[in-house]
Amino acid sequence: MSKKLGQTDSRVLLVTGGAGFIGSNFITYILQKHPEDTIINLDVLTYAGNLENLKGVEGDPRYTFIKGDIRDRDMVRGLFKTYPITHVVNFAAESHVDRSIVDPDIFLTTNIIGTEVLLDEAKRAWKIYPEDKYSKEYKEGVRFHQVSTDEVYGALGKEGLFVESMPLLPNSPYSASKASADLIVRSYQKTFGLPVTVSRCSNNYGAYQFPEKLIPLMINNCINDRSLPVYGDGMQIRDWLHVIDHCSAIDAILEKGETGDIYNIGGNNEKANIEIVKLIIKTLGKSEELITYVKDRPGHDRRYAIDNTKITSQLGWKPTYTFEQGMKETIQWYLDNQKWIERVVSGDYQGYYERMYC
Ligand SMILES: NC(=O)c1ccc[n+]([C@@H]2O[C@H](COP(=O)([O-])OP(=O)(O)OC[C@H]3O[C@@H](n4cnc5c(N)ncnc54)[C@H](O)[C@@H]3O)[C@@H](O)[C@H]2O)c1
Repeated sequence: MSKKLGQTDSRVLLVTGGAGFIGSNFITYILQKHPEDTIINLDVLTYAGNLENLKGVEGDPRYTFIKGDIRDRDMVRGLFKTYPITHVVNFAAESHVDRSIVDPDIFLTTNIIGTEVLLDEAKRAWKIYPEDKYSKEYKEGVRFHQVSTDEVYGALGKEGLFVESMPLLPNSPYSASKASADLIVRSYQKTFGLPVTVSRCSNNYGAYQFPEKLIPLMINNCINDRSLPVYGDGMQIRDWLHVIDHCSAIDAILEKGETGDIYNIGGNNEKANIEIVKLIIKTLGKSEELITYVKDRPGHDRRYAIDNTKITSQLGWKPTYTFEQGMKETIQWYLDNQKWIERVVSGDYQGYYERMYC
């Protein structure tokens, strides 16, 4: 069969936000699983971006790091001109709900405008007839994947699960910015025919998570016999997934997902926050007296739970970690990587870019 115009044999992935928790796990996962792939990691290195997470791939000739902001249109255009990018996987975001309550502005510009810039530049670079505004023909095999969150659906009551067709009812500035980005992605598919997919994943845990999120915060405090601050009554329920299972799900969507489709990702693993805190205490052999209940976060969603039928039945994806095994390994990882946590907590990790790249 003859090659179609623009068709490439191997993939060149522009991974944005690749120095963050999930992005760095994803880059390592893809380079191990797909020896033919090349990755450009575009990350502006906010407080959440940590290049130390990627030490293992730094010398790999298939990996390039670019320090830059997804909102910088000229720079993004330059990347598409310099590299034969076939896929965009957009992880870059302001991701911490508590921070979005204190300072929403940056959530809107990064999560919404940044996504629009990436979509627009991908469209420009991938369109076969860029001057024809009605043409919906794109180079063969290209794909824009938006990494979204189950938080866009809002909160559930005691019963029910999030399905892809549900209306978006976000409750925090963070989830509202992610929902907005999802709608911009949708509009680029509907209006311009851009080949896009979206995934909405439940809460992740695993190695390299910034110690302000529930699980690493509790593990770190517990190891150091510090108090464990639990919001409200601790009965907020989340559907937890190991980060590697999130990576394999995105991989499956990139390979087999239908253009224009949305896929929920979750592991049928609902846990109340307080259950997780108690599990960490038990595993580390500490006392529940460390728990301190603090005033609940405003607008704190009560329950999230994912229906993963679509991705499991249509793409054959399934999670590989049980929560028990995943948590055991994660707690062990934080115990084995105390230096990593110390550097993150002290801010020292931020000098890594200067030391390594400047
Ligand atoms: N953590 C979760 O449980 C979870 C669950 C579902 C979906 N998500 C989504 O997955 C993605 C990654 O989440 P995470 O937990 O790894 O986040 P993170 O905060 O650990 O990482 C975000 C990364 O994006 C980078 N970044 C921020 N603004 C940028 C900009 N303007 N330009 C370039 N890079 C920028 C940061 O430097 C950082 O490296 C986010 O889009 C988030 O909404 C996260």
